[in-house]
Amino acid sequence: MTDIWQLVRPSIKQIKPYSPGKSSQEVKEELGIEEVTKLASNENPLGPSPQAIAAMQQAAADVYIYPDPLCRDLTEALAAHWDVDPEGIVVGRGSDEIIHMLGLAFLNPGEEVIYSSPPFALYPFTTIIMDAKSVQIPHKDFVHDLPAMAAAITNRTKMIFISNPYNPTGTIVTADEIKEFMAQVPDDVVVMFDEAYYEYVDDADYGDGLPFVEEGRNAIVLRTFSKTYGLAGLRIGYGIAPPELAAALKQVREPFNVAGIAQAAALASLQDPEQVQRSFQLVQEGKEYLYNEFDNMGLGYVPTQANFVFVDVGIDSQECFDALMRCGVTVRTGDIFGFPTYIRVTIGTAEQNRHFVNALCEVLA
Ligand SMILES: Cc1ncc(COP(=O)(O)O)c(C=O)c1O
Repeated sequence: MTDIWQLVRPSIKQIKPYSPGKSSQEVKEELGIEEVTKLASNENPLGPSPQAIAAMQQAAADVYIYPDPLCRDLTEALAAHWDVDPEGIVVGRGSDEIIHMLGLAFLNPGEEVIYSSPPFALYPFTTIIMDAKSVQIPHKDFVHDLPAMAAAITNRTKMIFISNPYNPTGTIVTADEIKEFMAQVPDDVVVMFDEAYYEYVDDADYGDGLPFVEEGRNAIVLRTFSKTYGLAGLRIGYGIAPPELAAALKQVREPFNVAGIAQAAALASLQDPEQVQRSFQLVQEGKEYLYNEFDNMGLGYVPTQANFVFVDVGIDSQECFDALMRCGVTVRTGDIFGFPTYIRVTIGTAEQNRHFVNALCEVLA
């Protein structure tokens, strides 16, 4: 029989499978424990807004019909919320899907995509699938090196991906830095600002990508309902772009890509500003607590603008992961990002943070 891998497109063989880490269920089964504190995927432990839960319950009865393919109600609400043109909004199955759509719509084989190293996993994934070429620019002190990224632009550059805040380090690039960078980006390059953690930022110097969308640049801002809004399991996110750019993405969108329940929950969440406030507050308090504990333990960490902290535990990250797991806590190892002694820990509830800190003290003792 023909080896299936001889039929597969060569580029697909290069893809390293996404490593989601161990699920709480796997850990419970493996260790025979009841409760797992999952601080591995930057989810929101507060869960969704009560209004979103009510909206999902109501929408559940309608799942026998296909959802609105244009996500009209949500698009209108998002346009009003951000004061942007509704024609420029594209809703996707998580912002992951919009990254994928960007690849499908814009990348020809051999064209270059610039992003920081280490990258968010979807950037190389999309680039490889499209037979395009990744140009990875090493971070500088955990922050995007925007001058080096600008210097890497060639006439083959098609897109630039900037995760701001930056996953896995939690750092940001400022409004001034982005402005200077954008002044060097030619108009035939599409810049994607991945702002999955936007709502957690408390640094006044932060710069989002919307001004460039409003200027009509070839720019797109991605936001998500997975983080602050606590809807990661529903898979819903969106892009805000100039209408022409959004129209190109809609060409490659699957007809019914976003479930009706997800649309209803996102709409209700958007109408509950307290959800964002509560989540923001939890992260602010949590990060102060963690910084303090890390200081007490003498551990170096990267001050964060997101809902996770990248911390140097001083031992092999995989060993640390295994030992924490035996205490019922899961985190993300830094080795996958090229930092073999770091872990990335999501900021949880006060109780979860305490559980993590106690476990870490035990592991490092
Ligand atoms: C930087 C970054 N971009 C995008 C995403 C994907 O989010 P979504 O759940 O909306 O697909 C994540 C999720 O962790 C992320 O960290």
